[in-house]
Amino acid sequence: MRLFIYLFVITALACANAVSSDPIKPLPIAVEYDRKKAELGRALFMDPNLSADRSVACVSCHSFDHGGADPRPVSIGSHGNKGVVNAPTVYNSYFNFRQFWNGRAKDLKEQAKGPLHNPAEMGMVPEEIERYLRGSDFYTEAFRKIYGRAPTHDDALDAIAEFEKALITPNCKFDRFLRKETKLSKLEYRGYKLFKTLGCATCHNGINVGGNSFQKMGLIFQYPWREGLPDRYDITNSPADKNVYKVPTLRNIELTAPYFHDGSVKTLELALKKMAYHNLGFDLSAEEIEALVAFLKTLTGETPRIIGESR
Ligand code: HEC
Ligand code: HEC
Repeated sequence: MRLFIYLFVITALACANAVSSDPIKPLPIAVEYDRKKAELGRALFMDPNLSADRSVACVSCHSFDHGGADPRPVSIGSHGNKGVVNAPTVYNSYFNFRQFWNGRAKDLKEQAKGPLHNPAEMGMVPEEIERYLRGSDFYTEAFRKIYGRAPTHDDALDAIAEFEKALITPNCKFDRFLRKETKLSKLEYRGYKLFKTLGCATCHNGINVGGNSFQKMGLIFQYPWREGLPDRYDITNSPADKNVYKVPTLRNIELTAPYFHDGSVKTLELALKKMAYHNLGFDLSAEEIEALVAFLKTLTGETPRIIGESR
């Protein structure tokens, strides 16, 4: 009898382990959000009048044709000002534990202040934003309906954050695999196994396959460090934090080239090679790269529905 109980416990543990051993969690198929606010947020997200020279909108650097990211290594803001890092995707960013490469914003609402006021991005002050919004019949009416008052800077941030909440990319092949709705090809499955056994999943895991911890770029073999980039060192001034960044999400990664905080790498293949070398300390074989790329492509989800819906 004892033996049976023992065997039963061991089997139960093994099963539980098999289920929880997937380091990646599927995205929900939908999230709850306030539809009216999100639609207002979408209009704001697309509106270049929110920048100092009226030429740059959020969408200019977070392109819906490029997985919510910027295809340029570094972005160009209003008055042609050049940024210093590659713009990460806004898709699924709601699920990141912090926002920005160094996590300096705690959530999307706090984040949105950054680009609006950054002289290298949109370069506006809150009063200018309010003046513009209050001068527009469309916005005056929309804010009054939703927030019950004339447009304010704070309500604009709230609406933008609500829109971003809706920017999720559900039902990628890998999530469907996790939900047991489909199978991976042999190559994709081999890539997933490598992702776990080689150690990628120690940093890229959870619902966003990243986005939930700060890690060093160059953990084993140093990656060149440059002064003035938004790494953790920029916040803490502790030398150990040089080149420490929020681990980027790998969802939709095939769409969001170029890669790394400096946008220095054009292809996914080269990004994986560099990643394994700098952070795991070895070179990947061509065959391993092929399998990993096949796996990573299963992380491409559906385009967020709110983008395609009538404006
Ligand atoms: C001129 C280009 C540019 C514009 C315009 C811009 N962004 Fe960004 N965005 C960036 C860059 C570059 C970063 C990374 C900056 C950093 O981490 O220091 C970023 C980061 C973000 C992030 C954080 C994502 C993450 O994973 O950390 C979000 C969310 C975001 N932007 C939303 C917006 C919104 C909303 C607007 C409009 C109000 C906007 N952006 C306008 C370039 C831009
Ligand atoms: C020690 C933690 C760690 C490990 C292990 C690790 N990564 Fe990363 N990964 C990061 C960090 C941090 C970044 C951001 C680096 C930067 O931008 O400078 C990153 C960036 C990436 C990027 C580029 C993302 C983008 O949007 O620019 C890809 C692709 C990637 N990793 C894949 C992998 C794969 C595949 C493996 C396994 C072979 C792996 N990583 C192992 C921490 C890690």
